[in-house]
Amino acid sequence: MSHEVVEKRLGLLGVLIVIVISIGGLVEIVPLYAQRSVVEPAPGVEPYGPLALEGRDIYIREGCYNCHSQMVRPLPAETARYGHYSLAGEAVYDHPFQFGSKRTGPDLARVGGRYSDEWHRVHLLNPRDVVPESNMPGFPWLAERTLDGEATRRKMIALRRIGVPYSDEQIAAAAQEVDGRSEMDALIAYLQGLKFRGQAAASDAAQAVQP
Ligand code: HEC
Repeated sequence: MSHEVVEKRLGLLGVLIVIVISIGGLVEIVPLYAQRSVVEPAPGVEPYGPLALEGRDIYIREGCYNCHSQMVRPLPAETARYGHYSLAGEAVYDHPFQFGSKRTGPDLARVGGRYSDEWHRVHLLNPRDVVPESNMPGFPWLAERTLDGEATRRKMIALRRIGVPYSDEQIAAAAQEVDGRSEMDALIAYLQGLKFRGQAAASDAAQAVQP
């Protein structure tokens, strides 16, 4: 009887469908806000140093994420190629995160240490000098532009306000580390820091999947 009432009133049916789907969504999403492995940094994860922090912003500005993801999925084909799958706790200091989904080029979440700084320099100037078949564009202007350390300092203060635990000493030293360095240096520092940080985090993930 009441079923018939719902079936004959399209508006009511729509509202009820939205309510039911919302409950399903909330049940999945809300617990994530309280789950330790999601909201706390994975062991070994530190906030970006000043130079890498600038590099990250250049990565975003140049749109590297349009061709590169930074998320290794927990599938054998992915972990065999890239390394340990990504954990939510690795991204807690990322504002915004760079997971992405478009892979014209390879995933970069574990690219740190795979090549030398010099390789990256040549590759970013003109990728075809090291990978002849590459269709990645060159970014030669990065080598010519220099950074302003005062902007880095202010950026770190802003990030601290939203929960990235930079100390006063780190913020005070930032300008000196960044001033006068090229955007290329900063981007390479960022890329070289993209790696999985150790066993402790791996065992943490194992606990997370076996409640
Ligand atoms: C139009 C798509 C495109 C854009 C934009 C792009 N890339 Fe690439 N990238 C590729 C492709 C394709 C490859 C694989 C061939 C090669 O190594 O050059 C690659 C490879 C790489 C590699 C080597 C990865 C590995 O594991 O061998 C790095 C590092 C890299 N890109 C960094 C960057 C950075 C940093 C930016 C932004 C400044 C960027 N890419 C922008 C397409 C792109």
